Amino acid sequence: MKQAQIAVLDTGGQYCHLIARKVRELGVSSEVFASGASLDEVESARGIIISGGPHSVYDPDSPRVQQSVLTSGIPVLGICYGQQLMAQELGGKVTPGTKGEYGLAFLDLLNVESELLRGVRDHQQIWMSHRDVVVAPPPGFRVLATTATCAIAAIEDPARHLHAVQFHPEVVHTTEGMKILRNFVFDICGSRKDWNAGERVALVEEQIRKTVAGRRVFFFVSGGVDSTVAFTLCLRALGADRVHGVYVDTGLMREGETEFVERTFERLGHGVVEIERAEAEFLTPLENAREPEQKRHIIGEQFVKVQERIIESHGLLAGGWLLGQGTIYPDTIESGGTANSATIKTHHNRVPGIQKLMDAGCIVEPLADFYKDEVRAIGAQLGLPAELLDRHPFPGPGLAIRCLCAKADAPVKQVPEGWIIPVQSVGVQGDSRTYAPVLAIDRFPSCSGRLQDEATELINSMRGVNRVIARVRSREPLEKQRVFASEIHRSRLDLLRRADAIVRELCDKSGFEAKVWQFPVILIPLGAGEDRDSVVLRPVQSVDGMTADSVAMPDELLEALSSRLMALAGIAGVYYDLTHKPPGTIEWE
Ligand code: XMP
Repeated sequence: MKQAQIAVLDTGGQYCHLIARKVRELGVSSEVFASGASLDEVESARGIIISGGPHSVYDPDSPRVQQSVLTSGIPVLGICYGQQLMAQELGGKVTPGTKGEYGLAFLDLLNVESELLRGVRDHQQIWMSHRDVVVAPPPGFRVLATTATCAIAAIEDPARHLHAVQFHPEVVHTTEGMKILRNFVFDICGSRKDWNAGERVALVEEQIRKTVAGRRVFFFVSGGVDSTVAFTLCLRALGADRVHGVYVDTGLMREGETEFVERTFERLGHGVVEIERAEAEFLTPLENAREPEQKRHIIGEQFVKVQERIIESHGLLAGGWLLGQGTIYPDTIESGGTANSATIKTHHNRVPGIQKLMDAGCIVEPLADFYKDEVRAIGAQLGLPAELLDRHPFPGPGLAIRCLCAKADAPVKQVPEGWIIPVQSVGVQGDSRTYAPVLAIDRFPSCSGRLQDEATELINSMRGVNRVIARVRSREPLEKQRVFASEIHRSRLDLLRRADAIVRELCDKSGFEAKVWQFPVILIPLGAGEDRDSVVLRPVQSVDGMTADSVAMPDELLEALSSRLMALAGIAGVYYDLTHKPPGTIEWE
């Protein structure tokens, strides 16, 4: 790539790479650098953006940027941790906030002339994810805006071309985020347009040919958007005789998935995709795994073993083989795959066995720099059918990470806000991973969406929970329920598969499926008597999977879903996940 106009310094934020992507969407080249990059490395940039990150600036080992970068006269925009770092480095003060601020907030503009916020409406919706706050700006800076929880939400010293915001202009939930980035990139930095998304297919194919050199590619396809688009790109770049596709039935797929893959690949004319049935290979080692990271590692490593087995049994060893994967950027960042980032989840395509192959230069990942919406756009450019491109994302580890387990029986605990359910799930708060129990509240959800606001408020003010669910229906009241010791067993997977199929069927019929980005259905070991599991419904809206909103469901659909689900033998209740991302993640594990 030619020298980028905007350099993004990575302090480990979940949205660092997204910043670079948003700048490119404005038609301006942008590249990510390590936070400590020297002035020499970034000197030719027209502007520098310092990303958010999971650390606290007052911790001794937290990532820094070079002072010379801040004082070079090149315009700098600090985002979240970037604002805190800029403030601290230049003589301001940062402390832990009294309250976290995760999710939606509103930006109140102070009556101050600003280059960065020029043209931005007052009281616009923004997206926050932080606990630390700037309590005193550095000398020379003026405060531009506040929120109900954060007194210093944007600062600026135009004379030194330094600007910073506590919120995230790069995520879609910040309504006028792109306007703020545009102000910075064009008006403040004086960048010109030099990037065109239409050229990316040719660039990616060129990159595939370079990486693969004279070798061949072994590809795991899942029937999902990412692996199908990546596989298609490899076929186009290398030709069918150099690419071998295998679909593995792990026993963790949704109902009808294997048949869908057979049908679709045949129709696409992608040659023969081999179907490998490997249920026992995945389910046996998973039997005693209850922790999400343990499950994810087992599944990732199992994929490596299946690959080795097939390569050997098919005599594919000659000529050199690379493993092709449909990894997209969020898989890398959530797996802690950049210098300063926290591991939120180890995606199945980022376990040590795969890492070893990567280190040996034996992996090709044509989509590693893209987000889901970009992958869909590339798929459309390649002429893949909408039936495939519009599918909801489905995680590589499949139903294993939607089938939650518990080590021992445990009671639910009543607190003033509701009931603490001792089933732990993964969340992301202030760019760090959380793993905490869920709070159940006992109000039948309405479609007003107000319960989601209440859930945000509850998580911001309560410590020790990262997710809120509402009880829709249950055979017994919450106080009579408990969590049961449980594992991943075929019978529980079958129950979850059925529940998931029912949800898809009704959502398809009602048109709701097309209105949401993804709709995970989760089984949790909560119940009473002989009914030992409950279903959680998790419809979310998102653009790139990095942030997401819990979606309000129409009452009639919720009624219909819950009555069909309650008719399943062994189901004790139906719940509705009200948590946005952050603070929850989309999947529970
Ligand atoms: P989370 O749960 O982290 O998920 O908010 C963001 C998006 O990524 C999907 N996901 C995965 N996809 N392998 C994948 O291919 C994985 O290990 C994995 N984990 C989560 C998730 O379904 C959502 O769309």
